[in-house]
Amino acid sequence: SDTEKGTYDHFMLKEIDEQPIVMRKIIQQYQDKNGDIKLDKKIRKVMTKSDRIYIIAAGTSYHAGLVGKQLIENMSQVPVEVHIASEFSYNMPLLSENPLFIYISQSGETADSRSVLVQTKAMGYPSITITNVPGSTLSREADYTLPLHAGPEIAVASTKAYTAQIAVLTILAVDTAQAKGIELDFDPLKELAIVASAMESLIDQKEAFESLSKELFETTRHAFFIGRGIDYFVVQEAALKLKEISYIQAEGFAGGELKHGTIALIEQDVPVVALATQENVNLSIRGNVQEVIARGAKASIISMKGLERSTDDVVLPAVHALLTPLISVIPMQLLSYYAALHRDCDVDKPRNLAKSVTVE
Ligand code: G6P
Repeated sequence: SDTEKGTYDHFMLKEIDEQPIVMRKIIQQYQDKNGDIKLDKKIRKVMTKSDRIYIIAAGTSYHAGLVGKQLIENMSQVPVEVHIASEFSYNMPLLSENPLFIYISQSGETADSRSVLVQTKAMGYPSITITNVPGSTLSREADYTLPLHAGPEIAVASTKAYTAQIAVLTILAVDTAQAKGIELDFDPLKELAIVASAMESLIDQKEAFESLSKELFETTRHAFFIGRGIDYFVVQEAALKLKEISYIQAEGFAGGELKHGTIALIEQDVPVVALATQENVNLSIRGNVQEVIARGAKASIISMKGLERSTDDVVLPAVHALLTPLISVIPMQLLSYYAALHRDCDVDKPRNLAKSVTVE
């Protein structure tokens, strides 16, 4: 059952493995009889009426929001800002005339996000909650809910909820584009089906990621993840995952920022994992990898099929360029899982962390 580990030692690995199933569930749930997107008409209306969308979230859900901004801006052509829930009130942006607030929360119970919702509701602004728990506080209090259909996520470190959030944001972005009459050469339900198969083939290569994880993280105290463009968002999630469960101090940063500070930290044998899933950053991120190798780093490049430039690259199966986070995050999840496992950490219940933080 969903709340039992079955043959798995940890919920986290079970939930990583469930991601292709979740993709297919989302496709099924958000599809009508004709194979078109099925989404509440009122959500369509509120999306097309807004002149600026504010995404509010915490932790892994915030990282999904960063990807969501790219998807919505790219396809629905409406500006999006992404805010960390606990910072929103202190760094309140100047709001547009018709703002729409989207709350992303696996649990729907995060107090930091809820307090922003209370505030924006009092200001009279519309809201959508994207959550795995319909009926949760954020779901009940927002005007509309988009469910993730990921099934219960038990491990504290979020995995399948992140990919489910990105998949639902993709459908939302395309639906809004269609409502606005924007021509897209992109069928989200087809593209997500390709993603589901690509996920499966990566999950089948677990052992490869287990050995890479040993090679990179067995003894280190520090780790770096670098990426540019959409990959930058995924490396931030990669670093969070590794920190949460293996207690290795990790940082995910933009390749171009290396020279502006972080490169001072690169010394002999420090692990650096680079992501290269986009054509337009492929050369520049490889340049960054050369810079860290020259300073002794143990570097590894994870690239998208077609962009590999060395036999040492870990190659991801090809998916649509906008959907690469759904694929590139899987090696990151597995690398973190095995790092924690081999360090004898409590994978599913890391110290000091709670699955949902219901206090501010
Ligand atoms: C906690 C969890 C994180 C999670 C964050 C946001 O800090 O440990 O894994 O990403 O809350 O949770 P939410 O339920 O709002 O997505």
